[in-house]
Amino acid sequence: MAADKIRILIVDDIAETRENIRKLLQFESDVDVVGAARSGKEGIQLAQELDPDVVLMDINMPDIDGITATEQVRKRSPHVQVVILSVQSDQSYMRRAMLAGARDFLNKPPLGDELISAIRRAGEMAHAERAKNAQQNFAASVVAGAGGGSSGFAPAHKGKIITIYSPKGGTGCTTLAVNLAITLNNEDTRTALVDANLQFGDVAIFVNEQGKNAIIELAPRVDELEQEVVDEILINHSASGVRILTAPQRPEYAEKISAEQFTKVVQYLQRMYAYVVVDTSHILSDVVLSMFDVSDVIVLVTTQEIPAIKNARLFLDLLQTMGINKNRVIFTMNRYDKRISITPERVSENLKHEVSVTIPLDEKIAITAVNRGVPFMLDNKSQPIGRGIFSLAEAVRGRLITLESETEVSERR
Ligand SMILES: Nc1ncnc2c1ncn2[C@@H]1O[C@H](COP(=O)(O)OP(=O)(O)OP(=O)(O)O)[C@@H](O)[C@H]1O
Ligand SMILES: [Mg+2]
Repeated sequence: MAADKIRILIVDDIAETRENIRKLLQFESDVDVVGAARSGKEGIQLAQELDPDVVLMDINMPDIDGITATEQVRKRSPHVQVVILSVQSDQSYMRRAMLAGARDFLNKPPLGDELISAIRRAGEMAHAERAKNAQQNFAASVVAGAGGGSSGFAPAHKGKIITIYSPKGGTGCTTLAVNLAITLNNEDTRTALVDANLQFGDVAIFVNEQGKNAIIELAPRVDELEQEVVDEILINHSASGVRILTAPQRPEYAEKISAEQFTKVVQYLQRMYAYVVVDTSHILSDVVLSMFDVSDVIVLVTTQEIPAIKNARLFLDLLQTMGINKNRVIFTMNRYDKRISITPERVSENLKHEVSVTIPLDEKIAITAVNRGVPFMLDNKSQPIGRGIFSLAEAVRGRLITLESETEVSERR
């Protein structure tokens, strides 16, 4: 099908190279070279105008180098896949290119077969991303069409989704999610807390509010929700004012809720509340995966244990594969004990991602809070563990502001 052809943009300052690549590709029936740019700047512009699937990008160019251009292209059009072609086979270049969001890295001049198979892989990824975006836009338009009208909620503003995740169980996600939601919630920034661990979620226990099955009621009706009704259906945690959507009461009910329905519910809440804090399971269910796509910020939780750190590394790689900007990740070390030699600095260096928040170990406070069903930000917030949560909330607010100004800058350029 012609529509499925892989659309290519070539970015290279040397005319001969551009021509050689064109020649290599001219007999491939599934590939279509839609344009060629002579500089990084022109590449960024053409990528926006032509909307290719794959950009073949040189590194050394006169105005904007290929790595910066890759970053810009990916920021504006995350579905576009970049394959770097470079004479530098240096590891550090390769790593920088990957961090900028490049999909693949080939040495110059590329062999025909090697180039074609890299293009096909990248093209497939681009098509999949496009299909997913189309689906999401559709879902968003359905959500935007629902409810609204005479409601008392601020309609136009879009709240922020903050997902708390750890690829290792038991590191403290639920503890952080519950206490973060309480800290972010105030009169100006109303906050909802959502349990995306549909099978064995324990947000309800942490706040001592069991016995509601709101998600089961909301999910099938997601296309006809009304804000007042939703606000009514959520648990109103009276001690904090946070609205809470807990997991179903029984694990077997989880399969009644599709990832699509769940995502729509969360995006609906995003229209009603300034912050939607989402707790997850370490297992990557479809529900959890779709939360990463819609999150503004992902709080990645680790502890000072090697398995947790190893999994955090794998997760950061996965995000890159999913095309999720790593600036959205706030890497947090929970249960921090300064007597343990695996320091936040060492972990930051090792994973090339800064640990920006540490939350101290305090078993007495943390465990008592769970067992009583009273989160410690309600009655112990001045303790070091509570101050850790405050610094997490600050980091979240700060990061949201930085991300917003980054998008503004790239839009103005
Ligand atoms: N900073 C901390 N200091 C001491 N204990 C903590 C701390 N944070 C969490 N805990 C304790 O660790 C245990 C696990 O915490 P929690 O349930 O929040 O983790 P989780 O990542 O949500 O686990 P699960 O994988 O089961 O969902 C709980 O007993 C909790 O009280
Ligand atoms: Mg949990």
